[in-house]
Amino acid sequence: MASSHCFAPFVFLLLLVGCSGRPLYPLPSKEANGNRQPLQTSRPYNVAHRGSNGEIPEETAAAYMRAIEEGADFIETDILSSKDGVLICFHDVILDNTTDIAQHKQFADRKRTYEVQGVNTTGFFTVDFTLKELKTLRVKQRYAFRDQQYNGKFPIITFEEFILIALDAPRVVGIYPEIKNPVLINQHVKWSNGKRVEDKFVETLKKYGYKGSYMSKDWLKQPAFIQSFAPTSLVYISNLTDLPKIFLIDDITIPTQDTNQSYWEITSDSYLSFIKDYVVGIGPWKDTVVPVVNNYLQTPTDLVSRAHAHNLQVHPYTFRNENSFLHFDFHVDPYIEYDYWINKIGVDGLFTDFTGSLHNFQEWTSFNESDNNNASKLLHKIALMVSSYKTA
Ligand SMILES: *[C@@H]1O[C@H](CO)[C@@H](O)[C@H](O)[C@H]1NC(C)=O
Ligand SMILES: *[C@@H]1O[C@H](CO)[C@@H](O)[C@H](O)[C@H]1NC(C)=O
Ligand SMILES: *[C@@H]1O[C@H](CO)[C@@H](O)[C@H](O)[C@H]1NC(C)=O
Ligand SMILES: *[C@@H]1O[C@H](CO)[C@@H](O)[C@H](O)[C@H]1NC(C)=O
Ligand SMILES: *[C@@H]1O[C@H](CO)[C@@H](O)[C@H](O)[C@H]1NC(C)=O
Ligand SMILES: *[C@@H]1O[C@H](CO)[C@@H](O)[C@H](O)[C@H]1NC(C)=O
Repeated sequence: MASSHCFAPFVFLLLLVGCSGRPLYPLPSKEANGNRQPLQTSRPYNVAHRGSNGEIPEETAAAYMRAIEEGADFIETDILSSKDGVLICFHDVILDNTTDIAQHKQFADRKRTYEVQGVNTTGFFTVDFTLKELKTLRVKQRYAFRDQQYNGKFPIITFEEFILIALDAPRVVGIYPEIKNPVLINQHVKWSNGKRVEDKFVETLKKYGYKGSYMSKDWLKQPAFIQSFAPTSLVYISNLTDLPKIFLIDDITIPTQDTNQSYWEITSDSYLSFIKDYVVGIGPWKDTVVPVVNNYLQTPTDLVSRAHAHNLQVHPYTFRNENSFLHFDFHVDPYIEYDYWINKIGVDGLFTDFTGSLHNFQEWTSFNESDNNNASKLLHKIALMVSSYKTA
């Protein structure tokens, strides 16, 4: 049995190699899409927030590769720009908190103060460094309580490098890039022909073949969600691409960065019915959906049901395993938090710093036989064994 199984493919491979002179192994990004496990679409999306940044410094190639290993449906990133107009994956507008910029004395005179969303912010801004200069820096962990062993090991990556990581994954992995601080970027970075960061952003996606509306054949081949806190960016790019867009919603105290609208205004029914022509969903901070007082959950708001009534998905952020982020209701157990948000609140996607935990939770609780994945099968078997032990 075993030998006849192996034989046919082996001969086929020899024929292939003989004919084409190509290497034996498929080039990762060239592998036919039909051979790759498709995106799962039967349960809420596992969005790897800045990669597996719970383990590895955020937005680095290593963090994204780890997230893919751990089962992410989408890898998430923030798009900013270098001084010379190269789009990069980086969260903060300044380099201070998550790189070793302080050790690069040659850049000491680059510190600036700019007004960012109405707040004077001082630091080393990405927009004051060329890509070449940014590449000399190394990224470090944002939080002192997370593993520091990878500090200083990995460089900042570009948007294009990020896309290649997703395209080279052994299964279909989507991307979830954010147009970050577009007001600031468009003030400080000038592209040829008066282009805006939004134009460069969409050009980059098109260059790598990202196109198509939500769930279209093109989209399923290379899934992408575009996210932004800036409604004018979302409206502007809806003219440039029909890729699905997600409108991010900040804390209730923070007005939109471009239109200066309040939280109450942008979560009203009339606004949801306006924005639904441009986006497929919203991405609210989870503590606005279910308010928190003294680290205990309060009565959930009706934001999720109102968004669903407008046919908008809801992808809240950010889920984190550590005690310092878990509200007391969850008994210091991130699985209970996932259970609450997926099964009680009914969200459609989750931004998590710990993709592996969310993936395990979903494999245990909503395993899908059509998901042809060995690690998943093993996990499911373990889950079944554990549950039969419990009922015995
Ligand atoms: C950087 O860290 C400091 C100190 O923890 C904090 O106050 C500040 O908000 C952070 N800056 C950014 C841009 O996140
Ligand atoms: C930022 O600083 C400048 C120069 O000191 C000042 O004119 C401006 O009012 C400040 N803006 C804010 C929002 O504090
Ligand atoms: C969309 O494109 C049309 C035609 O080019 C233009 O008239 C319109 O102003 C654009 N809308 C936005 C929001 O940019
Ligand atoms: C934003 O709106 C608030 C409240 O309506 C107002 O006080 C503030 O001046 C506005 N800010 C800008 C920059 O327009
Ligand atoms: C399992 O996945 C397949 C393919 O994505 C989907 O059609 C089917 O509805 C899923 N089954 C369940 C029980 O979710
Ligand atoms: C994965 O599954 C396939 C088919 O179900 C099997 O042939 C293969 O040996 C498995 N690989 C591992 C590493 O278990």
